[in-house]
Amino acid sequence: MPLQEIVVGRDEDDRRKYGKKGSIYFGKHLVGEGEEANLTNPVHLDVARPHVSLVCGKRGQGKSYTGAVVAEEFFLLPEEIRQNLSMLMIDTMGIWWSLKNPNEKQISLLKNWGLEPKSFDASVYVPEGFEEDYRKENIPFDETFSIQASELSTQDWSLAFDISLTEPLGVLLERVMRKLVNKENYGIDAIIDTILDDNRASEDVKQALENRFLSAKEWGIFSKEGLSIEDILSPGKVSVLDVSYFGHLSSGWSVRGLLVGLLSRRIYRKRVEARRQEEMSTIKGRKKIDVPMTWVAIDEAHQFLPAEGKTPASGPLTTLVKEGRQPGISVMFITQRPGAIHPDAISQSDLIVSHRLTARPDLEALRNIMQTYMTFDIQEYINNLPRKKGSAIVLDDNSERIYAMKVRPRMSWHAGGTPDAFEDEEDF
Ligand SMILES: Nc1ncnc2c1ncn2[C@@H]1O[C@H](COP(=O)(O)OP(=O)(O)OP(=O)(O)O)[C@@H](O)[C@H]1O
Ligand SMILES: [Mg+2]
Repeated sequence: MPLQEIVVGRDEDDRRKYGKKGSIYFGKHLVGEGEEANLTNPVHLDVARPHVSLVCGKRGQGKSYTGAVVAEEFFLLPEEIRQNLSMLMIDTMGIWWSLKNPNEKQISLLKNWGLEPKSFDASVYVPEGFEEDYRKENIPFDETFSIQASELSTQDWSLAFDISLTEPLGVLLERVMRKLVNKENYGIDAIIDTILDDNRASEDVKQALENRFLSAKEWGIFSKEGLSIEDILSPGKVSVLDVSYFGHLSSGWSVRGLLVGLLSRRIYRKRVEARRQEEMSTIKGRKKIDVPMTWVAIDEAHQFLPAEGKTPASGPLTTLVKEGRQPGISVMFITQRPGAIHPDAISQSDLIVSHRLTARPDLEALRNIMQTYMTFDIQEYINNLPRKKGSAIVLDDNSERIYAMKVRPRMSWHAGGTPDAFEDEEDF
């Protein structure tokens, strides 16, 4: 492989051994300063090994776009590699369904890059309870998702409802959950019945807790079947889980947190199990992968793993970040506010892609990861970026290098763009 071909996320040993095999086309290296910078060699991104990555940058700089570029590239991987991977995108803004439509808006830009508009067959999941609303709004989707109430723990509920386990509501919640512990696949109605049957709590407390569960019924995510994690993790599949609809609810972030927490736990469990089987089959000479390594991309990640406070997703995401490498789980946190995401998400990242960033607390959060391979302060690298959307610096712990780059244009349409009345004039 020519030395100029950069593969971020890959250490020198792997680079020598595999070249750019098992990597995706991510963009081009930017050489030079500010607006004078030129696009030079291709930059690839390793997807063969697990990574924790952080994509950050201020509003409208290209974070969600970058996430979608990674998803597009999954479809373009050679079949034998794609079959060993899957990707789950947690879509908080309801924008990634547009992977299904070709990018007709940036045609001249794509042409400059030698690319063409293209659609990709991502599997879009929407909440079961809101299926009709999606139909009415003509938003394309493939499947609906729901979860089983019985999969949630006392702690999940207490975090989702924001009740402390030491207050009377929490004490009742814990007692109710303990009574249900040996039951399988119960629904919200069974939880409510158990609350009403309780003979120790006062009527007020019982009613207050009942009301919480009645409102949870309106979230439109509970059913007896639940979601099959095996489906989401099928070899080669890119799933977009649209959780944007919960924005309508006052408890929108709690619901999303519950979902992300539950999914993360199940993915972790599945992959730990699969890893054991993979190891056994390697020993026995068989190689069949049912649940491949997976990438989980989460937009607005500071809402799920915040620096302050806890959400139902905090614990499970921390597990993925700290223990996901062995079972082959990659996480891509996307956030406008690195200063608001839990420091673990930053310190555990081996790959940071930072678009333009100006707010002091956010720069400060990145400054804390000052690596030995950085000659200058992070702000200097960022200030040096041209003011073109999609420009970013990449801090790569694997190769111990820092690069300025421009993420390649999307082949599929970007639904989350900043609305404007102009023709698209981007040509870089
Ligand atoms: N790599 C790129 N190449 C060309 N254009 C880009 C690129 N990245 C982003 N853009 C342009 O910038 C716009 C905004 O990008 P995007 O929606 O990803 O921003 P964001 O950082 O996610 O913003 P927000 O914080 O508001 O979610 C896109 O609609 C697109 O026009
Ligand atoms: Mg975005």
